[in-house]
Amino acid sequence: MISGETGTGKELVAKAIHYNSSRKDKALVAVNVAAIPSELIESELFGHEKGSFTGASIRRIGKFEEADGGSLFLDEIGEMELNLQVKLLRVLQEKEIVRIGSNNPVKTDCRIIVATNKNLKEEVKKGKFREDLYYRLLGLPIELPPLRDRGNDILILAHHFIETFCAENNIRPKKLSEKSQMKLLSYTFPGNIRELKSVIELAVTLSDEGEIEPADIILDAGEPVAYTPEGQLTLKEYELKIIKATLKKNNMDIKVAAGKLDIGVSTIYRILKDEKGWSQ
Ligand SMILES: Nc1ncnc2c1ncn2[C@@H]1O[C@H](COP(=O)(O)OP(=O)(O)OP(=O)(O)O)[C@@H](O)[C@H]1O
Ligand SMILES: [Mg+2]
Repeated sequence: MISGETGTGKELVAKAIHYNSSRKDKALVAVNVAAIPSELIESELFGHEKGSFTGASIRRIGKFEEADGGSLFLDEIGEMELNLQVKLLRVLQEKEIVRIGSNNPVKTDCRIIVATNKNLKEEVKKGKFREDLYYRLLGLPIELPPLRDRGNDILILAHHFIETFCAENNIRPKKLSEKSQMKLLSYTFPGNIRELKSVIELAVTLSDEGEIEPADIILDAGEPVAYTPEGQLTLKEYELKIIKATLKKNNMDIKVAAGKLDIGVSTIYRILKDEKGWSQ
């Protein structure tokens, strides 16, 4: 069981567990419990026989069977509904699943890795998570600390992200100035490592050759940007972030910002106009 705030690296740890295990040549199958409508999740996990419910036009194996011999990663397990929790517990105990609409149990052999950004013990107290399932899943609990509690790791990770981003984009490697390091170390990073990664990528983009200065490090730029589950921004979101940051850096002077970004003033207006709520 991996727990930790959003962006602390739970999925990364799940992958590390699987790919460093003797199951690495078999599948790592991920299911985001929160992302699948509750009426579909049972068939998603356990599969179904043809005709077992309206819409079940073909027989389909579930994620448990797909993960046979490998690992099944149940992300956001805290969102699972109580009635499904009962079924999951039974599967874990019996080590076999029954497809919807079938009477034949099928043996399963997979390592279960679960992740949650909730405090599951609290959920148990509130009656939202079954205590028996909690202890069945606990296994080796791995708690990922928030980035703000990881001290110098912030800088180690920042350097890592600078290096990879520069390499990917053919930019000469840059360094964080002393003051920039202090700025990063004193920030709380509510979005944890995912946030650090995007802050760094933006800083590399905004900075001049050589050193990244504090002004290039935009913390919590404007309103929060909605992250997609994979933690990547769309090109449009990047565009907007970069433009806002460049404007801020240049005292909201659109002409200067346009010059820095080597685009026309009208392009900036257009992109800002597309974005509702730009009020600064
Ligand atoms: N130790 C690390 N080294 C390098 N990159 C990391 C590390 N930990 C996390 N990341 C990166 O940070 C981002 C967020 O990680 P991940 O998706 O695993 O977080 P999460 O805990 O699953 O978040 P959420 O709860 O929002 O799903 C990813 O881009 C991941 O590659
Ligand atoms: Mg995740």
